[in-house]
Amino acid sequence: MTNLTQSAKPGKRLKITGGGPLYGECEISTSKNAVLPILAASLLTTAPVTIHKVPDISDVKNMFTLLRAFGARVSVSGDAVTITTKSIRTTSPAANVIERLRASILFMGPLLAREGSVTLPLPGGCRIGSRPIDLHIQGFRALGAKSVTVNGQVHAWGHPLKGSHFYLRFPSVGATENIIMSATLAQGTTFLEGAAIEPEIDDLINFLISMGAKIDNRKSCIVIEGVDELSGTDYTPISDRIEAGTLILAAAVSGGEVRLHRTDATHLKPVCDKLMEAGTEIFPFGGSLKVRGCGACPMEIVSSPFPGFPTDMQAPFMAACCFAKGKSTVNETIFENRFLHVEELKKMGADITIEGNTAYINGFGCLHGAEVTATDLRAGAALCIAGLFAQGETVIDNIYHIDRGYENFEDKLLKLGANITRLS
Ligand code: EPZ
Repeated sequence: MTNLTQSAKPGKRLKITGGGPLYGECEISTSKNAVLPILAASLLTTAPVTIHKVPDISDVKNMFTLLRAFGARVSVSGDAVTITTKSIRTTSPAANVIERLRASILFMGPLLAREGSVTLPLPGGCRIGSRPIDLHIQGFRALGAKSVTVNGQVHAWGHPLKGSHFYLRFPSVGATENIIMSATLAQGTTFLEGAAIEPEIDDLINFLISMGAKIDNRKSCIVIEGVDELSGTDYTPISDRIEAGTLILAAAVSGGEVRLHRTDATHLKPVCDKLMEAGTEIFPFGGSLKVRGCGACPMEIVSSPFPGFPTDMQAPFMAACCFAKGKSTVNETIFENRFLHVEELKKMGADITIEGNTAYINGFGCLHGAEVTATDLRAGAALCIAGLFAQGETVIDNIYHIDRGYENFEDKLLKLGANITRLS
């Protein structure tokens, strides 16, 4: 068990022995995809910002490194962090740290709004796609900034930013977050249409409002009235709907019964609906969920922006489909290369063919254990699902991907009765 002040967890492999139904309960951690933009938004004020229940995951620790590189004082106490940024260092942090963390792009909006200029190394693409930032840049330009990209560095400048009416051609989560953050300190009012409406966007908006931002979250059109400055705050972000969805799925496939605490069923409607259609029973009760699984069934999955089926649940669901008897299809519409887990599942005996952005799974009810490798965060989670129910032993390598976004994942699975150990 590490904590927020220690470096990465020891051990790079997980060993899972396939078993039967899961029983037990655990608490869901704070959302990675909520806390990362909130940490970046802390740069919008010189006053102290305290965030509670911060998850002990490596993406958060990398954000701390970047915040310190920008000149913030980051002090951790238990699972709370206080960030105070009296002044911002204009030199960009070391590129190797920026490129390690795709979410570093979320510093652009706050730095541009606060300093009037920002230069960052382009965040590298990642295994699941090229991850361009054209929509972020279009948003900054709509607010009156100028931007160029030279030698792998993206520069943006303009002060003061001016409120404007902007329509996002695609509901990009990161671009929505960057535009909202920069508009909070712009002169005048910004009308952002076509915005992403994920729960993590709502959480960022609530966080900014707690700092004194004037935002009317009308979903289809987010209205941000610029203010001169923002204050400090004390805030607890929402829990992680993707971690919860992953554990709900594991319980469903196992045919057992688990209770997940600190889980908001409204954030998981497409995931729960898909599983309940197949016979799993899900009972929300007072901020928790009781899940009574019925085993794996063939499914048709199509990922789409919220409120559609979340792309981050695509890989785990594909793994689950391998334990169903029958044909399933998975259509990934968000990222262009998010099927890297297919080759790993095939090592476990899966029968999957890919045509374009659709995977066809021919499930015959079982997989066998194997040595596999996590290729990205959600692919790692998919391999955990596969290992939980495969016949025999599965060893997953490169589990640093899992440690990026799932806090103490093996501890949670152990609490639910899984046979899983981290190999040093
Ligand atoms: C966020 O990534 C999440 N990451 C992702 O979670 C999540 O899968 C994704 O939203 C979609 O829900 C964080 O919140 C830190 P996007 P983001 O901008 O903001 C294209 C995980 O596993 N696009 O909504 O990068 C892009 O290429 C991660 O936790 C442009 O074309 O996602 C992609 O195809 C993975 N131009 C699509 O939009 C742009 O300027 C969705 O990207 C920006 C995006």
